[in-house]
Amino acid sequence: MITLSTAANMETRGEIAIILVDNPPVNAINVEVRKGIMEGLNAVSKDDSVKAVIIACAGRTFLAGADITEFGKEPQHPGLDLIFDLIENYRKPVIAAIHGSALGGGLETAMICHYRVAVPTATFGQPEVNLGLIPGIGGTQRLPRIIGVQKAIEMCAGGKQINAREALENGLIDAISEENLLDGATAFAKKLVHENHPLIKIRDKNDKIEEARNKPEIFAEARKAFARSDRGFDAPQAAIDAIETGVKKGIEVGLKNEREIFRKLIQGSQSAAMRYIFFAERECTKIPGLASDTPRVPVNKIGIVGAGTMGTGIAMSCANAGIPVTIMEINQKLLEKGLETCRENYKNSALKGRITHDEAEKRLSLINGTISLNDFADVDMVVEAVFENKNLKKEIFAKLDKICKDSVILATNTSALNITEIALATKRPESVIGLHFFSPANVMRLLEIVRTEKTADDIIATSISFGKRIKKIPVLVRECHGFVGNRMLFQRVNENKQMLLEGSTPQQIDKVLYDFGFPMGPFAVLDLVGLDVGWDKAASKGETLRDVLCEAGRFGQKTNAGYYDYKPGNRTPIPSQYVQEKINELAAKNNIKQRLISDEEILERSLYSVINEGAKILDEGIAIRPGDIDVIWVNGYGWPRYRGGPMFYADSIGLKKILDKIKAFEKTHGNTWRPSALLEKLVNEGKEFKDLHDRHG
Ligand SMILES: NC(=O)c1ccc[n+]([C@@H]2O[C@H](COP(=O)([O-])OP(=O)(O)OC[C@H]3O[C@@H](n4cnc5c(N)ncnc54)[C@H](O)[C@@H]3O)[C@@H](O)[C@H]2O)c1
Repeated sequence: MITLSTAANMETRGEIAIILVDNPPVNAINVEVRKGIMEGLNAVSKDDSVKAVIIACAGRTFLAGADITEFGKEPQHPGLDLIFDLIENYRKPVIAAIHGSALGGGLETAMICHYRVAVPTATFGQPEVNLGLIPGIGGTQRLPRIIGVQKAIEMCAGGKQINAREALENGLIDAISEENLLDGATAFAKKLVHENHPLIKIRDKNDKIEEARNKPEIFAEARKAFARSDRGFDAPQAAIDAIETGVKKGIEVGLKNEREIFRKLIQGSQSAAMRYIFFAERECTKIPGLASDTPRVPVNKIGIVGAGTMGTGIAMSCANAGIPVTIMEINQKLLEKGLETCRENYKNSALKGRITHDEAEKRLSLINGTISLNDFADVDMVVEAVFENKNLKKEIFAKLDKICKDSVILATNTSALNITEIALATKRPESVIGLHFFSPANVMRLLEIVRTEKTADDIIATSISFGKRIKKIPVLVRECHGFVGNRMLFQRVNENKQMLLEGSTPQQIDKVLYDFGFPMGPFAVLDLVGLDVGWDKAASKGETLRDVLCEAGRFGQKTNAGYYDYKPGNRTPIPSQYVQEKINELAAKNNIKQRLISDEEILERSLYSVINEGAKILDEGIAIRPGDIDVIWVNGYGWPRYRGGPMFYADSIGLKKILDKIKAFEKTHGNTWRPSALLEKLVNEGKEFKDLHDRHG
């Protein structure tokens, strides 16, 4: 074994050399990896007894991509392009031996090799788009030349990953090694040498792209589809451009163009935002003051109270991660209805090919039902998801306290109720925590974890681990009305409703926020959720627009009328004359003079109200860091990822500009616009949100 660099060594098995990269945790291609590969290839060049070289990795995966901590820094020798030239023009076969995943620069490195062998569990992808980028070193050029344009677009523009079987079928790999990978790759390499196989350069392959040369509409259609699914997001369009150029103008022009596009994207604001969120999502589970060796309570069995919208979604999230759950309902009929929701959902997933029928069955078999809380005596965690009613929740927690074992975690999915108060219904408030899932709970990745002053460290640590285990993004927050996400959202909703009275329309406000990048406008969302959710008919005094609309039976899409009108069976919102009249009446009643409101004002009031509240939340220590707030908004509230979340966005606009506007709004609109003291402090000190450190404690 020869040491090639601090991240690679080389072993020789007869006439085959194996360069083994070892750069934990994911074998990111940093300068030491590049040095190692170069040293290895240079050594083998001089050794006539070695006839072929395998590039493989130690640890859990093949090269997982470029080292993103090197992004934006001075390039270090040797660059990847140099290594690629060396491999592509090497005089002896170079074979990539792949386990784990070959992603991004990892897949590009595999494709520059003459041949590829992988284990059956390997996966392949160009996920650069998730960082607002495109592949930077040939992915958009070589991938279509191997697997065809359509599939290359899916992988480069859509970030789709494929498994080893698909990769073999499409020619992305040449063999699957069922045995030990290094043994299999060595045998493969020997065969190549003895049978005198050619040194294949993918750049020379044209058969797979021929079809697209004659069918330019492939690109136009793809552009349209991505413009729909990833509105406002540049990277998927750029990936399609890069592929098209290479297909039409040849690989040399294609590679140069790809490099140019990559350079532009990496310097742009969208990629900066995406990389920021990528790191923020990793950072948010690091909790200051919570020792890393805090014991975790084993969670192997879960009880869920309530088989409604949220209860069933949470149950499926657990079952998807292989954790058995029991759902409790008030009667058999409602229980059966909830279980049927899960059954239908899995059936549809299997029909759409997202999971196999066997997998669907397996997951469903993990979800059981009961109509007695007594069945929760041996569960490790309970998630309560009954109606949003404080007394009902307290009653349930008091019962759970009597039934459950000492080590149980008692969680509530309340959206806004006081968890401390619910916890006091038990004799063990330290075991109580908020697990705030988002709807649909089996799909949405955000999990706001709400600690009270009393919640014990092991309960917090276990909840975070549990969140990760069920593939959520857990963000720990402290208690306040609406927690972090909803508290900020309430500000925007109020502002949006106020702007209606001042002269705007639901359709104008929706369009401004949709164009900003939210998947739906706020009024379209309210119509979807239902105006009646949380509305109390008995308490309604017809003073707000919502009261007026609900009193008229306009509950949203479900009644074909809400802030908009709907044709039966059609979800397209139609501006409503009725709603406009009611808005005008309310404005007159409240002496609000209506005026034309500009799109700019709508955007500023909608976003700055959120940012101001976010700053207050940080100041109060409710959220640990600005990045946590951004993770919450990107993953739970539709804030476009390529804009980084409200706090990141605020920095990019400039805090002084935002504060000046907030102060101006305070003058015209009063106390709801009281500027956050933290925001003022940051502006006075010439700082930004990104300069703040952890503020929990
Ligand atoms: N729907 C959302 O978007 C959303 C998002 C986050 C949090 N939440 C919160 O989740 C909770 C549940 O909301 P949902 O939308 O699923 O409501 P839902 O009305 O769909 O479901 C509630 C279920 O609880 C059942 N239930 C009522 N009393 C019960 C009892 N004593 N024992 C067992 N089951 C009982 C009901 O029969 C019903 O099936 C609420 O606290 C809500 O605020 C909802």
